[in-house]
Amino acid sequence: MEQTFIALKPDAVQRGYIGTIIERFERKGFKLVGLKLMQVSQQLAEKHYQEHTQKPFFKGLVSFITSGPIVAMVWEGNNVVESARKMMGATNPKDALPGTLRGDFAVDMGRNIVHGSDSAESAKREIGLFFSPDELLSGWHRSTESWVYEEAQKEPASV
Ligand code: RTP
Ligand code: MG
Repeated sequence: MEQTFIALKPDAVQRGYIGTIIERFERKGFKLVGLKLMQVSQQLAEKHYQEHTQKPFFKGLVSFITSGPIVAMVWEGNNVVESARKMMGATNPKDALPGTLRGDFAVDMGRNIVHGSDSAESAKREIGLFFSPDELLSGWHRSTESWVYEEAQKEPASV
């Protein structure tokens, strides 16, 4: 099954939205397979945002993501990459619809509370950057699965 990397950025942690955001993914029906509170190093931040190295906002972005603890998570489910991006809303919270995380809880582009992988390939890369394989519990069975999915779920793909 598909996996995605979600990070609650330092603003979400400071503003007390850890539980609220985790709850949204839980209630959707996705399965949590990795979770940790951590401080992102300069080196990890630069690797994570490597696609933005040349952008004018890169320095500020790295400085922000290293400015306090984040919550790193891996969520699993059918189409979880695309669904998580929709649940997060547009990158700029001014364009994010009400009902989305950024639409409901954020105002500023540089303080948009949550990160989500933009493709399955990015998810694999980002999960590998933030988690070692023994920190992920992909195999557990969430007892609500037959109420979330009509068809039985196959074994998760290894990361
Ligand atoms: P993220 O990677 O954080 O999930 O956000 P995203 O895919 O929606 O947006 P992305 O283009 O990957 O940009 C990463 C983060 O950089 C900041 N940003 N600032 N000032 C700007 O023009 C600008 N553009 C992007 C945002 O904080 C965005 O989340
Ligand atoms: Mg991105």
